[in-house]
Amino acid sequence: MAGAPNREYKNSLVRWIEYRLPIFSLLDHTIGRDYPTPKNLNYWWSLGAVLTIALIIQIITGIFLAMYYVPTAEGAFDSVERIMRDVNSGWMIRYIHSNGAALFFAAVYIHILRGMYYGSYKRPRELLWFIGIIIFILMMATAFMGYVLPWGQMSFWAATVITNLFSAIPWVGDSITIWLWGGFSVGSATLQRFYSLHYVLPFVIFGATIVHIWAIHVHGPNNPKGISVKGPQDTIPYHPYFTTKYMVVFGIFFIALAFLVFYEPNYLNHSDQFKRANPLVTPANIVPEWYFLPFYAILRSIPDKLMGVVAFGGSLMILFILPWVDTSRVRSGAFRPVFKQFFWIFVADVILLGYIGSQPPAGALLIIGRLATVYYFAHFIIILPLVGWMERPKPLPESIAEPVLKGEGGQ
Ligand code: HEM
Repeated sequence: MAGAPNREYKNSLVRWIEYRLPIFSLLDHTIGRDYPTPKNLNYWWSLGAVLTIALIIQIITGIFLAMYYVPTAEGAFDSVERIMRDVNSGWMIRYIHSNGAALFFAAVYIHILRGMYYGSYKRPRELLWFIGIIIFILMMATAFMGYVLPWGQMSFWAATVITNLFSAIPWVGDSITIWLWGGFSVGSATLQRFYSLHYVLPFVIFGATIVHIWAIHVHGPNNPKGISVKGPQDTIPYHPYFTTKYMVVFGIFFIALAFLVFYEPNYLNHSDQFKRANPLVTPANIVPEWYFLPFYAILRSIPDKLMGVVAFGGSLMILFILPWVDTSRVRSGAFRPVFKQFFWIFVADVILLGYIGSQPPAGALLIIGRLATVYYFAHFIIILPLVGWMERPKPLPESIAEPVLKGEGGQ
């Protein structure tokens, strides 16, 4: 294989396979001994690997759930109850799937914020960043449709509220909404198409993840110092150094998942989900899952329906222009004293939006939500370009190896 090292594998079976299908050298090149990795990667760089595993867990548990799930308005709720009560270990598979989705989002948010803090979206990793955003949008669509499947009260009303947003599109909105529903309201046809898409999208995400990982390998990962690798003195092989280091974060992920599944399986669930969908009874406060709350707050912060949808879409699309609105030539936030502060204010703003999204939109909270929405956009459009121009970054080290030898490479 072109570019493969002249590595002689000791095991004869491995040699036999490698000669016919060079899978071992491919692995060595992507996550193994022949993947030179910046020496100073810290634990935040393990989130990508955690996400890959989380995605695989979602796919496997999802396939098992699909064996028993019935995608009709009459049968869905009961089929989920059957999974919980009668199917062997069905409760565990379902709880791993639902809590796994929540942890998947927690990990992806940390992964995105890590990229924002260390400037991983900057040249030459812009496309890698774009693919990430596309994955994120696909994840949101998948999770939303998955939430509808158990056909509880919140499933039904979340589907109704979100699909209704399309009706705000001028002229064609109503036709699009009816087309999405497959009828004149959210019902069996809607459920079936959501089920079909919820099944297939994770495989699309899987494909996009392969392209994402491919893009990382073109220029190698960024690192906490944000400076490029200058030579072999700056790198060590991915395996065994990072494969072992990242086991710590894998451990944390699995302990958190086990804790949720076995001790607090419904902590993140809404009590209305225990009630069968009822089109005649609207819940007092329709709230999505926690991981949608900041975007839900942005959606609701604007009194006009169409403009709310535009703001919601804009809050995601704005991530695409990040490589250009950040005008600083320094990648890593570690050397940018002013940026660093605005980064944390941005994180606080998103958390505040999340809280607002969980509350009924009234009174002071409505005003605060609007201000937080304005700040969200201002961060990208005004603050980042200005800080990039005006800030005086700290001096950068000569190489990655230099701070590593002083014991401060990973910050
Ligand atoms: C299914 C979801 C995802 C998976 C499985 C995934 C996987 C990975 C992996 C394995 C890496 C290399 C290890 C690491 O740097 O952590 C990585 C890096 C990266 N990811 Fe993702 N990712 C996902 C979603 C996203 C999203 C949503 C974004 C941004 C919107 C994103 C942006 C990036 C960037 C910029 C890097 C390069 C980081 C650097 O080198 O500093 N990823 N991803």
